[in-house]
Amino acid sequence: MTDAMVSQPGYWARKRYFELYDRSLRHPEEFWAEEARKLDWFKTWDKVLEWKPPFARWFVGGQLNACHQCVDRHVKTWRKSKVAIYWEGEPGDTRVLSYSTLYGEINRCASVLKNLGLRKGDTAALYLPMIPELPIFMLACGRIGVTHTVIFSGFSAQSLADRMNDIGAKLLVTADGGFRRGNVIPLKEIADEALALSPCVEKAVVVNRVGKSVPMQRGRDFWYHHLLEDAVPSVETVSVESSHPLYILYTSGTTGKPKGIVHSTGGYLVFNHSNYQWVFDIKEESVYWCTADVGWVTGHSSIVYAPLSHGAAIVLYEGSPDYPSLDRWWNIIETYGVTTFYTSPTAIRMFMQHGEEEPARHDLSSLELLGTVGEPINPEAWLWYYKHIGGERCPIVDTWWQTETGGIMISHAPGIQLLALKPGSAGFPLPGIDAAVVNESGEAVAPGEKGLLVIRKPWPGMFLTLHGDPERYKQTYWERFPGSYHTGDYAVKDEEGYFWLLGRADEVIKVAGHRLGTLELENAVISHPAVVECGAASKPDPIKGEAIVLFVILRNGYEASDDLSKELVAHIRKVVGPVATPERLFFVAKLPKTRSGKIMRRVLKAVASEVDIGDVSTLEDGASVDEAKAAYEDLKKAV
Ligand code: WTA
Repeated sequence: MTDAMVSQPGYWARKRYFELYDRSLRHPEEFWAEEARKLDWFKTWDKVLEWKPPFARWFVGGQLNACHQCVDRHVKTWRKSKVAIYWEGEPGDTRVLSYSTLYGEINRCASVLKNLGLRKGDTAALYLPMIPELPIFMLACGRIGVTHTVIFSGFSAQSLADRMNDIGAKLLVTADGGFRRGNVIPLKEIADEALALSPCVEKAVVVNRVGKSVPMQRGRDFWYHHLLEDAVPSVETVSVESSHPLYILYTSGTTGKPKGIVHSTGGYLVFNHSNYQWVFDIKEESVYWCTADVGWVTGHSSIVYAPLSHGAAIVLYEGSPDYPSLDRWWNIIETYGVTTFYTSPTAIRMFMQHGEEEPARHDLSSLELLGTVGEPINPEAWLWYYKHIGGERCPIVDTWWQTETGGIMISHAPGIQLLALKPGSAGFPLPGIDAAVVNESGEAVAPGEKGLLVIRKPWPGMFLTLHGDPERYKQTYWERFPGSYHTGDYAVKDEEGYFWLLGRADEVIKVAGHRLGTLELENAVISHPAVVECGAASKPDPIKGEAIVLFVILRNGYEASDDLSKELVAHIRKVVGPVATPERLFFVAKLPKTRSGKIMRRVLKAVASEVDIGDVSTLEDGASVDEAKAAYEDLKKAV
C-alpha cells in the first residue's frame, strides 16, 4: 500500500466494504443468519436457505410475526412513547401516532378483521388513500396472519377487480374518498364498481376520511368506526412460518396480465431491516420521509416495514406535492425536522423546473441524507437535488430495486460505507447481492460495456413466486440465464465497479416511476369497440422519465378524429386508471410487424421518441435491421 492510495478519499471505507461484500458472497448463509438474528423470532429457523432453483425459502422453520417486529417489540421499550408516524393530510389536518398509539390502533383493527371472520391464510385487499389506516390495516393483517394486497388508488375499478379476483380476496378495505389536489377521489364509488365484478369479496370496510355520504350495501359494507365499537383492545399475534406470504403486490410485466408478486414474512423482513440500516444509516433520532405511495413496493418496504422494524419515526403525507403551493414538501421537511428524505427522480425534475426559490424559502438544515428510487436519475437532476435540497452536505443514495426484489439491491450505503458518489450511478451492490452485467449469452461484459443486469445468487428479500403461476415465475425470470435472476434492466458497470442503471430492456414502461406494461395498455385500448389493434410505446419525457404513446388501428366504419382520440384516452383511464393516461395517440393503418406477427417494438419506440431507428436498443423482436428500417420509414410517414 502506498501513501497515495491511503490518501484517496474513502480508501479505508472502500477496502472494508469490499471485504464485507466478498465475505457475504463467499458465505451467504452465515452472513444472512447473522443479519436475521437482529430480528425477534418466536422460534429460530432450522435451515437458513432451501434453494431448489428457482425457488428459495429462507429461514425455513423459523417462526415470527411482522407486526411484532414493527410494533410490539418497540412498545416493550422506551420507544412506546416515541413518535412512529407524523401524518399530514392534504387539507392540512395532522395526526401524530406514538408507537403505543399505533399499537392500540393495530390491535383494535386486528379485532375488527377477526370479527369479520378473517383468519390466517385469508387475503384482504386494501384500496385506501395515504392515511394512517393504510399501514394500520397492513400491520393488523400481518398480526393475524392475513395476507394483504394493496392496490394503488390511481388504479381503476377494473384493475382493482382483476387483482381482487386473482388473489381471491375475502375483504376489501376502502375509504369514502381521498384528497388529491383539493378534489375528492371517489374511492368508494370506484370500489363499488369493482365489487360488482368481484364475487369472492364478501365484505367491505369503509374508512371515513372525507366525511362524505357514500352508498353502503346492507350486509356487505360497514363503516370502520362502527366496527371499532365492538373491537377488543388487544389481539394476540399469530406466529407464522418464515415463508408465510406477508403480502402480494401486483405489478406490470411483459404480458397483458399483471403479476402477483408474493413476498414472504421472514426473508422479506430480514432483508429490509438490514438494507435499510446500510443504505439510510438510520439513527434513533432520524425522521424519515419516503414520498412514495404505499400502493407501490417502495411504500411497502420504505414507508412501512423497514423503518418501523427499526422503531423509526416516519412522515406520511396524503396529498399532492404541489398543493396548495409549490413548497408543500419543503414545508413538511421543515415542520417535522425530516433527516432522511427519499423520493423519485420525477419529483426532483418537477421541482427543478419550478426553480430553487421554493426550497430556498425553507430551513432544510435538518436533512442529513437524501435518496432516490424508481427510475434512472439524470446527473443534472442529481446535482440540483444535491445542491438545492441537500445544501451540498447530504450524500444521495440512488437506490436500484424492484417489486420482485423486495428491497434495495444496488445503492451506496452510508450505514457501512461512503465512497465517492458519481451523479447518475447507483453505486455498488449491497452485501449479499451478487449482481453482474452480462451479454445475450449470459457472459459478463467488459467494464464500461452495456449489458443486462442479473443477480446470480438468491437473497432473502426475493419474491417467493408469482401468485398462482409458478411456471410464469420460472419462465419470466429464470430461464433466460439459467441459475441467475433476470432483472429486465440494462446496466453498465464502470471501471471502478460502479453500476449505472439504464432503464428497462423489456416491454415495461416507467411513467413517473410507475410501472406499466405495454401489453396491458394495448389490451385496455383494444377493449374499446372502435379499436381493432393497438401498439403502445414510450418516449422520453423531461419530467416523468417516460411517457406513453399509442398507435391505434380503427375498426372499419370508424373515423379518426380528435373526439375519438379523447374518448380513447378517457377509456384507458377508465380501464387501467389515471396512472395510464397516454401522452399522444396516433391513428395508423398498420403496425410494424415481423413475419411471425410480432409487433416490432423498437420501431414503435423510435417513432414515438422521434429518434432514428439506429439509436434504439434492440429488443428481441426477431426482425432484421433492414426490415425494421423499412417498417420505421412506413410508420414515420403514417404519423
Ligand atoms: C427501475 C421500484 C434506475 C428499474 C422500486 C426497475 C431504477 C424498475 C431505479 C422496478 C434506480 C428502480 N435507477 N432505475 N435507482 N430503481 N428502477 O417494480 O427499471 O416499481 O426494473 O420497483 O424501476 O420498478 P418497481
